[in-house]
Formats: sequence, C-alpha cells, structure tokens
Amino acid sequence: MRTRVTEMLGIEHPIVQGGMQWVGLAGLASAVSNAGGLGIITGLTQPTPEDLIKEIDQCREMTDKPFAVNLTILPTIKPVPYEEYAQAIVDSGIKIVETAGRNPEPFLPLFKEAGIKVIHKCTSIRHSLKAEKIGCDMVSVDGFECAGHPGEDDVTNMILLPLAARRLKIPFLASGGLGDGRGLAAALAMGADGINMGTRFMVTKEAPIHENVKQKMVDASELDTSLIYRSLRNTARVFKNSVAEQVVEIESQDGETRFEDIQPLVQGVKGRELFDSGDLDKGIWSAGMVVGLIDDVPTCDELISRIVREAEEIINERLGSTVSA
Ligand SMILES: Cc1cc2nc3c(=O)[nH]c(=O)nc-3n(C[C@H](O)[C@H](O)[C@H](O)COP(=O)(O)O)c2cc1C
Repeated sequence: MRTRVTEMLGIEHPIVQGGMQWVGLAGLASAVSNAGGLGIITGLTQPTPEDLIKEIDQCREMTDKPFAVNLTILPTIKPVPYEEYAQAIVDSGIKIVETAGRNPEPFLPLFKEAGIKVIHKCTSIRHSLKAEKIGCDMVSVDGFECAGHPGEDDVTNMILLPLAARRLKIPFLASGGLGDGRGLAAALAMGADGINMGTRFMVTKEAPIHENVKQKMVDASELDTSLIYRSLRNTARVFKNSVAEQVVEIESQDGETRFEDIQPLVQGVKGRELFDSGDLDKGIWSAGMVVGLIDDVPTCDELISRIVREAEEIINERLGSTVSA
C-alpha cells in the first residue's frame, strides 16, 4: 500500500504504533518498525532525558528502519522538563515526533529546525485544523473509541474521519478502535492515509507487559472499558477493572470530585507495577474499545502482515466485486 503516510514517513505499511506510557520501549517500537510500520518510543516513560537518549540508541541497534518518539504534554503532579526531553529527541537525530496532550506550538521551531516531521494527535476537528495551521506535518485523529484521553466531545471516528478528510489538507491517521484489516480498509475509505493503534499493539508478543494483562485483554469484550476523570473534564478510557469501577463510583457521588479523592487509586507507578506483576487490580491501565476485537497475541510482524493482507483482500475482492457486480 502506498499512501501519503507511507511516503512522508518512509515506511512500508500505513500502520503506526501510538505512544504508550510504560509500553512504548525500544523492543516494541523496533518490532513495529522492522515489520514495516512506524514504531514509537514513549518519551516520558524514560525517567530522564538522558535515559531517553539511551533508549533511542538501543532502538537504533534493534532496527535500521524509521521510528519515532512520542512527547505527551499533559498536566502532571510533578513538573516535567519538556524542553529537555524535546532537546534530547533533537540531539538523538530522531526525524519523526508524535506530540499529544496539548498544543505543540512552543516546540515546533526546535523540531522544524532539525527537519523533524511532527504528527500531532488530536481528538477533534478544531484541534486538527489548528495543528495544520501551526505547521504540523500530519495529524492523528483520535476518536471516542480510543484508549487514553478521548477528549470531552465524544465524537466517534465514523464522523471524525470523513470530516477530517473534507477539511484537512495535510495527511492524517485514523486512531482509536483500529485493530484489524477491516479497520484499515474502512479508515482508508473514510479518507485517512493510515492507522494508528495503541491497544492492539499492547497485545503482541513484543509488548513489555505481563502475560496476565495480555490474556485479560484477549478475553475482554468491547464493553470492558470505563471512562474515568469525566467529572474533572480530563476523560480517560481505561480497562474496566475493580479500580476503574471504584474511581467511577467516587466520581458519581454528590458534590465535586477532588483529584485527591482518587489519586491513590490512579497513580502512574501503580499502573506500571500492574504491567510488571500481572496483578490486574493493582491500578489502572489505558485500553480502548478495540479490546472487543482482540483474540490473540501475535508478533508485531504477524499482526501487521495480517492487517495489510486482510485490508488488501477487502479492497481488491469484496469491495471491488461489489462495484463491478
Ligand atoms: C497503555 C496505553 C498507554 C498510552 N499512553 C499514551 C501516552 O503516553 N501518550 C499518548 O499520546 N497516547 C497514549 N496512548 C494512546 C495511544 O497512543 C493511541 O492514541 C490510542 O491507543 C489509540 O486508540 P486504540 O487504543 O483504540 O488503538 C496510550 C494507549 C495505551 C493503550
């Protein structure tokens, strides 16, 4: 498949692995890139900018294909030296960055100067248009189905993608709810130039998380996600475990929810422990509705080849014969 995404990013297949806190390490990113997609190292998973440089170096030893780094700019309890992370990315010679969370404008001069292509992840058309206006090279349009932060508009990709196709001039990725060849074919049909997947790549052999987490996601249905932080207007879609249900319960009580009331349940460090130990009720973890479409734990290479093969069959055969009939 050749699209504006494969051309711009210099990759074989129009499939990107979105940044994932605690999951986007060199092993996963290089596996995706070696399989012809674009792997992404998650910048803030590394405790310091120096550690990020080391992770990038390690990834380079594992693949000679393009890979990217995600920089997520979100309000945090502990201040994050974003400028130093951005500088580490530039100094490492990375040529593609995925930004998310907030308007990336302050970082664009630095990235552009270094010849870096910037993919900004947005959950609305207005933010996508803004990203195009300020000079981002590509956007990733994250629909309401997605894992992580879907925003507050609750618009699904069935609406967002055709709108993005009508209004944007720059290439865009469909993100959220994608996990198979049907999804890729549909995303291309709706005007996207490729797909970005998070949850589906968590459930691969190379994802650095405990087998219990992967198996739980294989067993899950499309109903097994929860929306938390709705009352704080910072919605996140996470796997529906007992901790997520407690958070939703606290938020549904009368009166204003204070972050302090839920903070002990949602600490990032607990999510990391959950991934390492396989104790599924240790904390929370991001997961999208696409868990309902996940039935196995393939390698990234098997997954990407299968998605591309299925999509090509659908486009050439099922859709082709529908038109010629
Ligand atoms: C475990 C996990 C952690 C994530 N962490 C981040 C993150 O740190 N920064 C970010 O921009 N997106 C993050 N995301 C969102 C993904 O990059 C991607 O946009 C999203 O997963 C797409 O929806 P999908 O899961 O339905 O494919 C995360 C997703 C998952 C599943």
